[in-house]
Amino acid sequence: MKRIGILTSGGDCQGLNAAIRGVAKSLYEACGGDVEIYGIQDGYRGLIEGDWRLMKPQEFSGILTLGGTILGTSRRPFKLMRVIGDDKVDKVAAMKQNYRKMKLDCLVTLGGNGTHKTANLLSQEGLNVIGLPKTIDNDLWGTDMTFGFQSAVEIASHVLDCIHTTANSHGRVFIVEIMGHKVGWLTLYAGVSSGADVILLPEIPYDLDKVSKALIRRKKAGKPFSILAVAEGALSKEEAGLSKKEFKRARANMSEPSISYRLAHELGEKTGQEIRVTVPGHFQRGGSPCAFDRMLSSRFGAAAARLILKERYGFMVALQNERIVPVPLSEVAGKLKSVPLDCDALQTARDLGICLGD
Ligand code: F6P
Repeated sequence: MKRIGILTSGGDCQGLNAAIRGVAKSLYEACGGDVEIYGIQDGYRGLIEGDWRLMKPQEFSGILTLGGTILGTSRRPFKLMRVIGDDKVDKVAAMKQNYRKMKLDCLVTLGGNGTHKTANLLSQEGLNVIGLPKTIDNDLWGTDMTFGFQSAVEIASHVLDCIHTTANSHGRVFIVEIMGHKVGWLTLYAGVSSGADVILLPEIPYDLDKVSKALIRRKKAGKPFSILAVAEGALSKEEAGLSKKEFKRARANMSEPSISYRLAHELGEKTGQEIRVTVPGHFQRGGSPCAFDRMLSSRFGAAAARLILKERYGFMVALQNERIVPVPLSEVAGKLKSVPLDCDALQTARDLGICLGD
């Protein structure tokens, strides 16, 4: 009898249920009645607190297209995993104890960067762990793509498309703020796919003068509107020169609620143009996964099940050059996959005349 624990951790995204289903269905297919799957509630919270249940096979039916996660999720900062708080709970010891209580052969963790850091920690503590890469940010090292990313690109692109029509009618400038504090994959892909005129990413600190000149140039060329796709984590050249502490302080003192509103204010003053801001926010993480993500999540889930059947643990399943491969958790943990400055997608944006703020 195989006993498998499964949890979803960190910010949710589309395709989590499809991936859970992929793991479960593949295991039931291969093992028949000889597998038990334990659903751990709200990510590592459930593993720490012993909040789990033995799942019934029918719970994995009808969830391929369902958004969110049937297991719930929570953020448990990796930095605090080894810190004993006021509740006096040793979180790592508690997770190990609960793993043993469930008599697990393997723990499957679906998550992003923080999740994989903890997955690696647990693997180093002697537990059998397999990770699946999810996040709309697509910033997990070791995989060409995470599930959730393409669905979020679809949504962000749709927002940009809709904004185009109203911007055109009114002859306005619009800033659409797209999720991604640390990396700009989503902003770049949605921006290029929807014909944004300016794309600002955390990886390329922007020069305000260059952005305002791009807007003025478009106006002079008779273009009635301009669309800016701006990542949540976009920052100016001046801010890029600050220390982490100074940057945090500067942002804490910023009077606008986010970078997009500040840009709207500054660019409005510099260009004299009417600027509006749209923030789709968590809308980008919601709803049904697109077909690409259903397929990718299913592939990751089935690959995780194959590793379990071969008793190969300590890996994250990853997409590399169209193939699904295992990557050691120790190689993934703690590394961020930013947009490389020489990547084809960025070059495409430049070739199309999109202003990247530099
Ligand atoms: O999960 C990734 C992400 O959606 C980022 O793009 C975003 O910056 C962040 O999570 C938002 O976090 P929260 O859901 O905790 O507000």
